[in-house]
Amino acid sequence: MFIDGRGHITLANRMCDDIFQADTSEWLEHLYYDCIHDHNFVLFIQYVFLTETHAHEQLYFDDGWSVKHYEAYGTPVTNSKSQLHGVVVVLHDITGVKRLEEIRKDFVANVSHELKTPVTSLKGFAETLLNESMENQDVQRQFLEIIWKESDRLQDLVGDLLELSRIETHNFQLNLQPIDLSKIGAETERLLRKKADDKSLQFNVSSEGNKEMIGDAARIKQILLNLLTNAIAYTGEGGEVELNIYEEAEFIVCRVSDTGIGIEKQDLPRVFERFYRVDKARSRDLGGTGLGLAIVKHLLEAHEGTIEAKSKPNVGTMFTICFPKEWSGW
Ligand SMILES: Nc1ncnc2c1ncn2[C@@H]1O[C@H](COP(=O)(O)OP(=O)(O)OP(=O)(O)O)[C@@H](O)[C@H]1O
Ligand SMILES: [Mg+2]
Repeated sequence: MFIDGRGHITLANRMCDDIFQADTSEWLEHLYYDCIHDHNFVLFIQYVFLTETHAHEQLYFDDGWSVKHYEAYGTPVTNSKSQLHGVVVVLHDITGVKRLEEIRKDFVANVSHELKTPVTSLKGFAETLLNESMENQDVQRQFLEIIWKESDRLQDLVGDLLELSRIETHNFQLNLQPIDLSKIGAETERLLRKKADDKSLQFNVSSEGNKEMIGDAARIKQILLNLLTNAIAYTGEGGEVELNIYEEAEFIVCRVSDTGIGIEKQDLPRVFERFYRVDKARSRDLGGTGLGLAIVKHLLEAHEGTIEAKSKPNVGTMFTICFPKEWSGW
């Protein structure tokens, strides 16, 4: 936008219509402060006129529906005798950058919060053990167990965070090989059998048809582990957890289902977000930080796979993942 020495707008490009949500061709030959309603922007232009120096500021325009952020640049235009001809102002839309900044801030806040809780309790229990002459061996042991559990959680959290950031780097590469999903399913079952037995859960694994595909065995194992760990964690004593692997025309499908507490409809689309937990208090008791499904989603995307979740509160939950058979890497 160009504003001449008298303060009249003499040029406004087409983008101005979008930015100001107005027909800015009608602004031409009018005083800028009569046309522009945003007080801060008017002040900004005024500043450039008064100081006759280059200025640069972040502004935002709120039209009641949405907020748009702009980087505003203003430069005086002078002739060879240093007389002011007018001012050029340029607005650069930085709404997307601002949004990313928000996400980053949220993320840091979440991580710090998640780290703070176990660290506080580690410190508290260690302090008590150190300060008080504790005769009672049982209580001592109890405290040490809490310390062990909390440090274990901390280790999981840090591990998950590292895993997520590794997956998100540009040069993240899968170690692709011909794999057999039923083998991976069986390995996962072996790892989790005890956890399921401890809760007296019925844990069934079945596989049918051809389950050979191209994929990264370690990553797919991680996907199944995360889903099944959830199924076991969020299912009460005596319930059922199932892993079915089968073949469809174009896909190899893995289905993890449980007869657990379920997820309310409004929470379902959000469970894949980092740190999202349906019931924070309960989930934390179970040791969760809300990163498991975010990792699952990323790893699946790397395999061009999809995931779908269905659930009914107090009935159970079913996660279905599909790997395209055709996919052979890239
Ligand atoms: N099978 C399930 N049944 C009921 N709720 C589930 C199930 N799977 C996931 N959820 C809900 O979705 C949330 C997110 O799951 P996610 O695995 O990402 O995190 P988490 O289990 O809390 O922590 P972690 O990072 O240790 O896996 C859980 O906190 C839980 O509320
Ligand atoms: Mg989990």
